[in-house]
Amino acid sequence: MKALILSGGKGSRLYPLTYTNAKQLIPVANKPVLYRVIEAIKDAGINDMGIVIGSGENGRKVRAAVGDGSLWDVNITYIVQDEPKGLAHAVLIAREYLQHDRFVMFLGDNVIEGGISNLIREFEDSDYNAQIVLTPVAEPQHYGVAELHADGSIKRLVEKPREPKSNLALVGIYMFDHHIHEAVRSIKPSWRGELEITDAIQWLVEQGYHVHPYIHRGWWIDTGKPIDMLAANSKVLEELVPAIHGFVDKDSEVDERVTIEPGAQIINSIVRGPTIIGENTRIINSYVGPFTSIYHDCLIENAEIEHCIVLENSQIIDVSARITDSLIGRNVIIRRSQLKPRALKMTLGDNSRVGLI
Ligand code: TTP
Repeated sequence: MKALILSGGKGSRLYPLTYTNAKQLIPVANKPVLYRVIEAIKDAGINDMGIVIGSGENGRKVRAAVGDGSLWDVNITYIVQDEPKGLAHAVLIAREYLQHDRFVMFLGDNVIEGGISNLIREFEDSDYNAQIVLTPVAEPQHYGVAELHADGSIKRLVEKPREPKSNLALVGIYMFDHHIHEAVRSIKPSWRGELEITDAIQWLVEQGYHVHPYIHRGWWIDTGKPIDMLAANSKVLEELVPAIHGFVDKDSEVDERVTIEPGAQIINSIVRGPTIIGENTRIINSYVGPFTSIYHDCLIENAEIEHCIVLENSQIIDVSARITDSLIGRNVIIRRSQLKPRALKMTLGDNSRVGLI
C-alpha cells in the first residue's frame, strides 16, 4: 500500500501563523503535526508516501522540513498542487504517483489517538473498495457527516449539512482502491469551488462499490483552528512519557509529568505538567502551568503561562498578567516596556488576535 498525505491548503483559519509557515509544520507537544502523521503511517507498515504540497513558500517549507524521508527511513515523493482546489483534486493530481495501488489518504493536519495500524490491517485484509473513518462528534454540522442504514452500511455522505442526519463525522483518514480515480474525475466542484472528497465517496456508494465505515472510538482532532491546536496539544501531552534531559536548579519545582528537552534550563521556577520545555529554552523566575508546550530557544522570564503553545525563539519577559489559552508564533517578543508613555505597544501581523484584561 501507499500513503497520500495532504499538506497543501491555505490554512486561513490559522492566520497569521500560516502566512509564514505551513500549518502542518506547527508543533504539537514540540513535534510538527506532519511528523506525527508520517510516523503513524510508518508504524502501520507503509514506507512509500506521496505528500501533496502547495506551489508557494509553505510548500517549500514542507519540502525543507521533511526532505527525502530518510529521517524516518521512508520514501517521499512530492506532488505539487497549483491551488488548493479540494481534497478530491489532490487525489486527481496524484494519479501518476498512486498508479493502480491501494492507498491511505491522511490529512496532514489531523491527529488521531492510537495510530492507524488497525485501520490499515482491516482494509488490507478486506476486499473493500474504500474504507472511511467515522467518529461521533458534538457539532456534526461543521464536518462531513455520514448517514448509515440500519445494517451499518453507508446511505449518504454530506459535507457540513445544515441539518445533520447523524452525529458521525468523517475523520481525515481514508482508504481507497483504484476506483477512486474514476470517482474524482466524475464529480463537479461544489458551491465553494472545490472537488470534495465526500462527493467522490458518495459517487462510489452510488455506483455500488463497497465503502466500509470504520467507527473510531478514541479522540481525533483536526487542527484547523487555534483552539483545536491547543486541544491536540493537550491530548498529546497527556500521552507523552515524561523525561528530564535539561537542567533544573534546586530552587525550582518540576512535577513528574513534565518533559524537559536537552539544553533547557529551569531556574527558580515552577513547572506543572503535562508540559514540555524545548531544547535550549530557559524558564527563569516563572510559572509554567499544565498543557503548555514551549518550543526550542525560547525565554520565559518573570512571567506566568498556562495552556499555551509557544513556537521557537520567542520571549516572554516581565509580564505580570498570566498568559493562558494562547498560540504564540516564532520570534515573538512580549515584554513590559520601559519606555514612556506607559501604554500597550504592539506590532501585530494581519489577522492577529489579542485579548486584553
Ligand atoms: P482544510 O483544513 O480543509 O483546508 P485548509 O488547509 O485550506 O484550511 P482553511 O480552511 O483554514 O483555509 O484542509 C485539510 C487538509 O488538506 C490540510 O492538511 C490541507 C490539505 N489540503 C490540500 O492539500 N489541498 C487542498 O486543496 C485542500 C483544500 C486541503
